[in-house]
Amino acid sequence: MSTIVSPSILSCDFANVQRDVEMINSSDADWFHIDVMDGVFVPNISFGFPVISAVKKHATKPLDVHLMIANPDQYVEEFKKSGADMLTVHYEACTHLHRTIQNIKSHGMMAGVALNPHTSIELLDDIIEDLDLVLIMSVNPGFGGQKFIKNAILKVEQLANLIHRKGSRAKIEVDGGVNLETGALLVQAGANALVAGSFVFNAPDPMKAISDLKKL
Ligand code: DX5
Ligand code: ZN
Repeated sequence: MSTIVSPSILSCDFANVQRDVEMINSSDADWFHIDVMDGVFVPNISFGFPVISAVKKHATKPLDVHLMIANPDQYVEEFKKSGADMLTVHYEACTHLHRTIQNIKSHGMMAGVALNPHTSIELLDDIIEDLDLVLIMSVNPGFGGQKFIKNAILKVEQLANLIHRKGSRAKIEVDGGVNLETGALLVQAGANALVAGSFVFNAPDPMKAISDLKKL
C-alpha cells in the first residue's frame, strides 16, 4: 500500500485558505492534517472550530485533526460537529486516555494518540488494540518548520513491532520535519502516513512535493 500523505495546513497561506485547500483536493494527498494548539499544552496558539468548519466546507478528503490541547475530552463533540474525521489526542494531555479514546469512537471518528519525542512506545501497551492511529512526534509540538529528531525512526520500528505483537490495526503516522529524506527513512521503518507542513507549502511546486512523498 502506498504512503498516506497528510499535508499540514498550519503552513498554508491563511489569507488564501480556500485556494490551498483546493490545491490539496486536486493533489495526490490523502488527508488534511489540522493542528489545533491552545497555548497551554504547547507554547503556541493556532486556530479552532470556525477555521476547521471553513476547511471542511471545501475539503474533499478526510480531516486528520491533531489536538495539542489540555483537556481534549470536553471538546470531542464540538470537533465532530466542525468536521473532524480523525481525532488525535496527546498521551501527555489525557489522564483517562481509555475513556477519551472511547469517547472519540462513540462520536464516529477514528481515534488516535500522539506521543511527544520523550514519551516511550511501551506506554501504549495496554491501549494499542483500541487505537486507529498513533502519531509519533518527530519534533516537539507547537511549531512548523523545526528540525527532525532522528530517534523517531527507532520509535516507528518499536511501534510497528508492538502493533504486530498485539494484532492491532493502528496506522503509524509521523509528524514534524518530514521531507523526502526523513520520509524515506520513516517509511522504511514502518510508517504508514506522513504529515508534512513546510516541506509542502514552501516547495516551489507543492503538488509535486505531495506526489514525491506519496511515492516513498
Ligand atoms: C507541529 C505540528 C505539525 C507541523 C509540522 O507541532 O504538529 O503538524 O505542522 O510542520 P513541519 O512539517 O514543517 O515540521
Ligand atoms: Zn500535527
